[in-house]
Amino acid sequence: MSGSVPFLILAPMRGITTAPYRTAFIRHFSGLDAAMAPFVPTVSAERIHPRLVKDLLPEHNGGLPLVPQLIGNNAADFVQMARVLHDLGYEEVNWNMGCPHKPIRKKRRGSGLLPHPDLVDRLLDHACAHSPCRITVKVRLGVADKAELAALAPVLNRHPLGEVVIHPRTAEQMYYGSVDLDAFAEAYAALAHPVCYNGDIGDLSFFIAVRDRFPGIGRFMLGRGLLADPFLCESIKAPSLSHFMKCDNAVSRIAAFHADLLARYEEILHGDRPVLGKMKECWTYLALHLSNGDRMFKKVKKTQTLAAYKAIVDECLAEAQWRPDTNAFMPPEPCA
Ligand SMILES: Cc1cc2nc3c(=O)[nH]c(=O)nc-3n(C[C@H](O)[C@H](O)[C@H](O)COP(=O)(O)O)c2cc1C
Repeated sequence: MSGSVPFLILAPMRGITTAPYRTAFIRHFSGLDAAMAPFVPTVSAERIHPRLVKDLLPEHNGGLPLVPQLIGNNAADFVQMARVLHDLGYEEVNWNMGCPHKPIRKKRRGSGLLPHPDLVDRLLDHACAHSPCRITVKVRLGVADKAELAALAPVLNRHPLGEVVIHPRTAEQMYYGSVDLDAFAEAYAALAHPVCYNGDIGDLSFFIAVRDRFPGIGRFMLGRGLLADPFLCESIKAPSLSHFMKCDNAVSRIAAFHADLLARYEEILHGDRPVLGKMKECWTYLALHLSNGDRMFKKVKKTQTLAAYKAIVDECLAEAQWRPDTNAFMPPEPCA
């Protein structure tokens, strides 16, 4: 598969890769083939409110094939929600079995399902039999034990899943430390389903290393690395062309994307605070490849009004230079 063109998917990032973000992103950057939407919790039929699926409405999501994602541990609720999504036109739905946050995993949702093969078996049994949408799952290696996913593989193999997306960290690692490609290799070998790789693709060389080590994998999901370097999918698809483009007009393309995203949020959110909240989260990543990104992000974080925010961003972007080709998004290890 390594000779063929890779299929690149925008990772779900709750609060960040919203419909406005996805729409603005594909207007300004190319190379993505699809996106997975951030998770929506499964709820019982009578509690399904239109607000829950607002971000998924087709009228807000033209341009890029989108896979909705659900999180929960009730198969009947999952199926009800899948029916709602199917009515909206979706053919596929992803089950989040990877969310690492403690309050979620303690309730046996997200990655909290991984140590419970019998429960996963029962859930998939019901969901695969009744969901009108094809089901895929997004998983980690385990909660604390990297071998949990390989142990779960025979259960996943029993069900007609469309794909398994693997982020090769444990839940306890959250997003720190390195991804474990050996443990990924073990889980990949144990799975009969198509596998999509997700984790730490932050520059072209890491992408190439993963692709070359796993030539059978054709689908890759990119999150923080792509948000920090929105040209990354262009680099992967056409390395020489995108290098030229990056050096030439990267900052002006970032500025155009930023203006578009800001305008979209100003249109749908009311008041400075919610818009600022959204924009500040984006700069967590987008500042990382800018020569003055550190200083800019510190200033942006302090702003309380949109007018002040816009002045800072305009001033900083006017001076910024793009620093390409380093995997910049890795946060430092947390303090013990
Ligand atoms: C702020 C944030 C929000 C996230 N939200 C979701 C989510 O809604 N669903 C999900 O499956 N993963 C979620 N993730 C995990 C990402 O989809 C992805 O698996 C993770 O960031 C690793 O990929 P990366 O190294 O390319 O960023 C989130 C990650 C972050 C940092």
